[in-house]
Amino acid sequence: MKLPNASGVIVHADLDELSAAVAQRIAILARASIMERGVFRMALAGGETPRRCYEHLRRMPIEWDRIEFYFGDERCLPLGDVQRNDSMAYDALLKYVPILQGSVRAIPAEEGARVAAEEYAKMLNLPLDLVLLGMGEDGHTASLFPGHPAADSAASVVAVFDSPKPPPERVSLSMTTLNAARVKMFLVAGAGKRDALQRIAQGVQLPAGRIVGAEWHVDKAVWPD
Ligand code: 6PG
Repeated sequence: MKLPNASGVIVHADLDELSAAVAQRIAILARASIMERGVFRMALAGGETPRRCYEHLRRMPIEWDRIEFYFGDERCLPLGDVQRNDSMAYDALLKYVPILQGSVRAIPAEEGARVAAEEYAKMLNLPLDLVLLGMGEDGHTASLFPGHPAADSAASVVAVFDSPKPPPERVSLSMTTLNAARVKMFLVAGAGKRDALQRIAQGVQLPAGRIVGAEWHVDKAVWPD
């Protein structure tokens, strides 16, 4: 199987091996970026798949005080709500590592999608070095869903009001912003994602398949031999 826009597909035995390998890749990218530019700007992925990767990452020897953390998307829920993507990132990674005060650029999604999208667009004024991405069973990525106008927005950050994946209101980096990142990395595991991946391989224009030049880290359950 071949993914039209992928820069490469790495098939791992299972989610844990995938997570450890991606954590290694992130540490290498961080080191190179910090050496070249003194900073590493990475956007974290939401959902559940990246959790194990973040748990591996927090044990890596990284210059944590040189990293700026952003988010690919956020759910419009109160600050601290366990269902928020930034809550998962704190729980699995950020509360364990010596990051600089103010280095986590959370999406202010508690203010509502429209206001938060406008505010985040102002905060996100430099290209990201890395964007981590998940993919839903329908082929969405971040909060860009198939057939949803937000997936074609010209804005840098988009408000989403009728997300098919709860909660309905979300904020997402746009397809343009995601594609502008230096490195894009998907973490996709589990048989439930197999159908979407096969449709992307067949050329169906699902949002995840529109990310150009991404490294796809997948497990055997989602990638047929
Ligand atoms: C979200 C994520 C979303 C997620 C995919 C995969 O807010 O839910 O941004 O894009 O990455 O839905 O989710 P899982 O990793 O939980 O399967």
